[in-house]
Amino acid sequence: MGREASDVVDLAASDDEAHGRTGYGVRGAGHRQVPSGVVSLLRTKPVERTPETGLRRTMGLVPLVALSVGATLGTGIFVVLGQAAPVAGPAVAVSFVVAALAALFSALSYAELAGAVPVSGSAYSYTYATLGELVAWVCGWCLLLEYGVSVAAVAVGWSGYLNAFLYATVGWQLPAALSGDVVNLPAAVVVLLATAVLLGGAKESALVTTVTTVLKVAVLLFFVAVAVFGFQQENLTPFAPAGVAGVTGAASLVFFSFIGFDAASTAGEEARNPQKDLPRAIVISLAIVTVVYVLVALTSVGAVGIGVLEGSDASLATVLQHVTGASWPSVVLSAGAVVAIASVVLTVLYGQTRVLVAMSRDGLVPPVFARIGPRRVPTANTLIVGVAVAVLAALVPLGQLAEATSIGTLVAFGLVNVGVIVLRRTRPDLPRGFRTPWVPVVPLLGLAMCVLLVAGLAPVTWLAFGIWSVVGLVVYFAYGRRRSQLAQGE
Ligand code: ALA
Repeated sequence: MGREASDVVDLAASDDEAHGRTGYGVRGAGHRQVPSGVVSLLRTKPVERTPETGLRRTMGLVPLVALSVGATLGTGIFVVLGQAAPVAGPAVAVSFVVAALAALFSALSYAELAGAVPVSGSAYSYTYATLGELVAWVCGWCLLLEYGVSVAAVAVGWSGYLNAFLYATVGWQLPAALSGDVVNLPAAVVVLLATAVLLGGAKESALVTTVTTVLKVAVLLFFVAVAVFGFQQENLTPFAPAGVAGVTGAASLVFFSFIGFDAASTAGEEARNPQKDLPRAIVISLAIVTVVYVLVALTSVGAVGIGVLEGSDASLATVLQHVTGASWPSVVLSAGAVVAIASVVLTVLYGQTRVLVAMSRDGLVPPVFARIGPRRVPTANTLIVGVAVAVLAALVPLGQLAEATSIGTLVAFGLVNVGVIVLRRTRPDLPRGFRTPWVPVVPLLGLAMCVLLVAGLAPVTWLAFGIWSVVGLVVYFAYGRRRSQLAQGE
């Protein structure tokens, strides 16, 4: 643990003698000579060097699947479907399949790396082990979008359903000024509530996650079972009025609904059997959410057509209202959505704190983020993230947040795909709980899908992402580069 950064390759080599493994360094990232500027940016972190964090290993396969499904099923299907449907037309169901394929190839790459590098920190930790510190930093910075900013987006979606629920049950809803027009109060409140649950401990949070996840899958299946009675063939024609461009454009939007299937990979150090269970959890979760999404998309468009879905903040509740003419099914749906989306807030917030633990432990963000409190949770980290996200959720609208989230996630996924190819070359005999099939074809397809979906996002999102990346690089060169644990002793 206390060895010098400039010995990275040799350290791995000497570990190899002990473990019968080959070196971990990449492209000479840790040469014997003192690393020059560029080489130090490429320094990689051998997975064997990860110290214990003090987090508890309490999660088996079921809580890990619940964590991933819990982090995934939420605003995307309950709200963003309504925004994507007009872009693709009824073919929005196909858009979900396209987005699922993009997610699937990347999921297979995630599965291999989660088993091979079973630490907290997800894509950030994988890129640190494969592509070097600078890329890892960029990836971690993207994960702030995938997790931190997406929590805010999800919370804003939650607020729409809370209002629908209140209106359907007590005939009253929060004034527009408090639910998004000026400030989004419910969005901030749900983030602070989730923060409080997380401070209670990982095992307790996992229990809440499992219960709420089962509930939300049940609510969506209830939706499908009711909506299918309103199904009318003519609502599906013309099927793809905007052609292929419409389908891929909508796929870029609904990709948001798949974000989170990788959440299990943030729990590497709280999983009981990470090598086996993390890859399984990732693939199982993606399969579950894909089936649910395609069913929901098909039945909702089939039941009411595009016109009704468009422009509703609580589109699925509106569908049920139309299909049944009664209000109770949409009350059930809104209540389910309120619970469902709150659980996304909880799980994604959890993921963000664990990624920051990993980055802090590596010295790239301040040590306060890695400090573990008495309940074996990163207390200060959770508080800081919770308050920051609550402020964001209160002030920024959903659409902008969702697109920023998607681009950050797609870049992180792209890096994970490259990471699999690199790790196969640099550590071919590292034990892997799961092997991505047909490497390099599958990771390259994953990368291509990520590029395709980034291309489908609005240019203003690319610009925002460019600015975000520049800020990230400034932070790295001003802080992390010198304080990096790997830099100590250079
Ligand atoms: N996939 C998550 C959601 O749709 C972010 O809410």
